[in-house]
Amino acid sequence: MPDHDLKFSASAGAPASCTTDCLILPVVAGKPLAGAAAALDAASGGRIEQLRKSGDFSAKAGATLLVHQPPGLAANRLLLVGAGSEPLGAQERANLLAAAARATLATPAKAAALVAEELLGDQSPAPVARLVARSFATAAYRYRAADNGNTHQLRQLHLLVERAQVNACAKGLDLGRIIGAAMNSARRLGDLPGNVCTPSHLADHARALAKAHPQIRVQVLGEPRLKQLKMGALLSVTAGTEQPACLIALEYRGGAARQAPVVLVGKGVTFDSGGISLKPGAKMDEMKYDMCGAASVLGVMEAVAAAQLPISVVGLIPAVENLPSGTATKPGDVVTSMSGKTIEILNTDAEGRLILCDTLTYAARYKPAVVIDIATLTGACVVALGKQATGLFSNDDALAEALLAAGTQAADRAWRLPLWKEYDEQLKSNFADLANVGGPEAGSVTAACFLARFAKDYTWAHLDIAGTAWNSSPKGATGRPVPLLMEYLLGRLGVDAKA
Ligand code: BES
Ligand code: MN
Ligand code: ZN
Repeated sequence: MPDHDLKFSASAGAPASCTTDCLILPVVAGKPLAGAAAALDAASGGRIEQLRKSGDFSAKAGATLLVHQPPGLAANRLLLVGAGSEPLGAQERANLLAAAARATLATPAKAAALVAEELLGDQSPAPVARLVARSFATAAYRYRAADNGNTHQLRQLHLLVERAQVNACAKGLDLGRIIGAAMNSARRLGDLPGNVCTPSHLADHARALAKAHPQIRVQVLGEPRLKQLKMGALLSVTAGTEQPACLIALEYRGGAARQAPVVLVGKGVTFDSGGISLKPGAKMDEMKYDMCGAASVLGVMEAVAAAQLPISVVGLIPAVENLPSGTATKPGDVVTSMSGKTIEILNTDAEGRLILCDTLTYAARYKPAVVIDIATLTGACVVALGKQATGLFSNDDALAEALLAAGTQAADRAWRLPLWKEYDEQLKSNFADLANVGGPEAGSVTAACFLARFAKDYTWAHLDIAGTAWNSSPKGATGRPVPLLMEYLLGRLGVDAKA
C-alpha cells in the first residue's frame, strides 16, 4: 500500500474511552504506572499491572505485547510498548516508535491511537509528533507489496494528547508524514536495481518532482555540457560505461528573493563496480546503493516543496555509473578537474570524490549560504561508525554543531571527524596536484580532505553515509539522512522556536 494512504490526526480525550482498533500505550520500566497508563490500568481492572507482575510484559525497550479485547476499555486491542527506563532521549523515542509501528502494522487494525503522554514528557510537542508520523510512515514502506501479499491494513494513526498540545502536534504530524514520505521515496530509489535506476532514471525522477511541484525547477546537464564546463574529474568516471552521465540541478526558491540558498550535493553513482580497480564479488550487488546521497537530496527537495518551507534550497546531483571497459579510466591516469587542479587517479574505485569535486566547484555559482554534500563515500566509514552514525566533516564549527544537533534531535545521528592538514598530506602526488586516494590509513578522513580542497570558497560540510544509508540484512535503503537534513533546514527557519 502506498504510504500516502496513511493519515495522521491528533486530539485530546481519555484513552480508556477511545474507540479504536488498536490503542498503543508506551510503558516506562522501573517505575509505577502513572498518568494515562495508571488510568488505563484502573479502567481495565488492573490488567496492565498484572501483565507486568507476571512477566508477560517487561516494559524493556522494544518489548511489545498485544492484548485482545482489553477489559474495561473501548478499544479492540491494547498494544503495550516498552519504553525502557527513563530518561527517554530522541533515539530511545525513535526505537520505541519503530517497535510500536512494526507491531501495529502486524495486526489487522485499520485505525490505531497512540497515547502520547510518556513520549511527550516535558518535550516540545512538534518534534515528537514529527517523529511519530515519520516512524509510522516509514514502517509502512514496502518495496514489493502487490506481488507478495506483504501488505498491512492500517489507514489512520491518531495521537492522543493534551488539549494545549493538539495544534502543535497536528502540524508536527503533517510535517512528519511529509518527511516519512520523502524517506520512502529515497529508499525506493536506493532499492531499485542498477539496471533500472540509471543516471537517466535519476534525471527522470527529478523532472517528475518538478512536474508535481511547480516551485521546483530542474535542469539536466548532459555530457556535452559537462565537457564544455571542463568537468574532467566527473567525466573520467563515466568513461567505461554506455550509460550517459549527467548533472542534475534542482532549485526550490521558497525563501525571500536573493536569499542565499542551502546547496545540497548528492553522490549519484547508480552502480559502483570499482571500474578497472574492480571490487571483489561478495556483496557487490549492494553498490546499487551508491546513489543514496542523490536519493536523499531528491527526498529533501520533495519534502521542502510538499511542506512549502520558506527557504531556498538547491540540489545538485552528479549521476554516473562506474564500470570497467576498454575505454575506462585506468590507475595512473591524470585528469584535470573543473577547478583546474590536476588529479592522479591511483584507484578508479575512489570515484565518488571525483564526481563530487567538480560538482562542488560548480556549486559556487549559486553563491550558497552553505554547501552540504551527502555521499556513500568510503567503506572505512562503515568500519569506523557502523550503521549508527553518519560521518560528519566540516570547515566550519558552527555548521558542524548545527548538523550534529539536528541529527540528535531527529534520531538520525552524525559524529564529527577531523580534517587536519596532516591527513591532507596523504594526498600528495608526484604527477599531479593531488592523488585521489591517501593510502590505507584514515580512509574516510583523506576522502573528506580531498573534497575540502574543492570547497574552500564557502561554508561546507560533508556527510559520509556509507554506513547509514542502507541495511545489509535484510537488505534495504534507510532513507537517511533525510531526517537530519530536514531538521537542519527547520532549525535554520527556527520552526520549533516559533511553535
Ligand atoms: N561506494 C564506495 C564506498 C562504500 C564501500 C560504501 C562499501 C559502502 C560500502 C566508494 O566509491 C569506494 O569504493 N571507496 C573506496 C575508496 C578506496 C578505494 C580509497 C573504499 O572505501 O574502499
Ligand atoms: Mn568506489
Ligand atoms: Zn562509490
